[in-house]
Amino acid sequence: MYFIGIDLGTSAVKLLMMDETGNILQTISETYPINYPRPGWSEQNPRDWWEAVVRGLSRLTAGTDAGQIAGVSFGGQMHGLVILDANDQVIRPAILWNDGRTEEETKYLNEVIGRQKLLAWTGNVAFAGFTAPKLLWLKKHEPENFAKIHKIMLPKDYIAYKLTGVFSTDVSDASGTLLFDVRERAWSEDMMDICDVYIEQLPQIYESYEMTGYVTPQAAGETGLSTKCAVAAGAGDNAAAAVGTGTVGGGSCNISLGTSGTLFIASDTFKADTNYALHAFCHADGHYHLMGCMLSAASCNQWWSDHILKTSDYEAEQAQIQKLGENHVFFLPYLMGERSPHNNPKARGTFTGMTMDTTRADMTQAVMEGVIFGLRDSLEIARALGVCPQKTKICGGGAKSALWRKMTANILNMPVEVLQNEEGPALGGAILAAVACGVFQNVKEASEKIVKIAETVFPDSALVTKYEDKYRRFAKIYPEMRNIFDFL
Ligand code: XUL
Repeated sequence: MYFIGIDLGTSAVKLLMMDETGNILQTISETYPINYPRPGWSEQNPRDWWEAVVRGLSRLTAGTDAGQIAGVSFGGQMHGLVILDANDQVIRPAILWNDGRTEEETKYLNEVIGRQKLLAWTGNVAFAGFTAPKLLWLKKHEPENFAKIHKIMLPKDYIAYKLTGVFSTDVSDASGTLLFDVRERAWSEDMMDICDVYIEQLPQIYESYEMTGYVTPQAAGETGLSTKCAVAAGAGDNAAAAVGTGTVGGGSCNISLGTSGTLFIASDTFKADTNYALHAFCHADGHYHLMGCMLSAASCNQWWSDHILKTSDYEAEQAQIQKLGENHVFFLPYLMGERSPHNNPKARGTFTGMTMDTTRADMTQAVMEGVIFGLRDSLEIARALGVCPQKTKICGGGAKSALWRKMTANILNMPVEVLQNEEGPALGGAILAAVACGVFQNVKEASEKIVKIAETVFPDSALVTKYEDKYRRFAKIYPEMRNIFDFL
């Protein structure tokens, strides 16, 4: 029996096929464009996602007996607003998780409705990328589109809908809408009233490991799957990555260095962040988690290397970095504004500290360190809440860099466990499908049996001390810059 995980990312969809023992047979990736119609805005066309999934599934299933593929599930980029009309047609491009257009609506929710009410109703406050402020934006700026809404869904749920015809979502992804009462694992009527949406417009809620339906004959024809293939609800990409890295069970931690950067701490019980900086969401294992999300992580290095240095040889660039803990250059990694902990769509990328002897390597190092200092900001908030993870897993494109892993261990002062397979969300999706099909009793059992650690990077005390000093300096830059970002 085989299981497929579909990780609907921001730059590409990654598809992974594994057998019931967790042995990975193949991974495939298909890309699609992202549009930035204005600075700080970002959109994708859901039809591009579906076409990429169809291409990817056809490639992945070629040569395999379709009858052997028992289940499919997902990890998906979170918070994106996908809206369909009464004929199931996409009304407008999806507004993505890193889109900062809703500053006014976010402010209205946090300051007029009030953070305390939002926290009580949903477990979270409003951030610009969340789905509810996007609905308010749409109602104001595109009332004709708002009036046509028949179905509201999250990115991966669009793919699930195309595969099964079932209008569903899961608790972890629903958590990021701000329309959802995370503690109760149910839609929030208060938030539905505020956003002027009706329960019929919202998908049916499932736990991530629950089966929602089977592949329809039409989707089977397009993808090469069989109509006996079960589809499980899946999870937001961070919860799916947590499953795929074995971050299941209270206190366990995962860092994802992808387009976004996240610090994910699993929790057996619900706990909201009264500092309003971290997200409190449902986990895909039936429990909860706290999460800090940076809008630009590995994407900062990609921007710096591809667009500014004009090189795709990241390894050669990183090989020039020799002075860990001694860099005088700092970089604020806020190329798309910032979510955690600053909640400021106007924040911008910033270099500071350069002198005439500053080298290209110092600047590359500052970019990489700035991302981990940003994660440290979220870790500090978690520690202040009494949530103190002792070690972390790491996944995502940035986790391939040994240098970035070393910086992570030393800047966060935690051992970093590197996995045999860092395709976190796609593996997590496949594991959720296997649980839905009854191969494992629960998510914990499945990920404990499947996920393997390849090596552990331990912090080095001399470097930790140096980085402690650098982090204290980094943490002083944003508060000084905040007014300048408003002015810019
Ligand atoms: C999490 C978040 C990002 C996206 C990236 O809150 O916004 O991690 O899910 O895909």
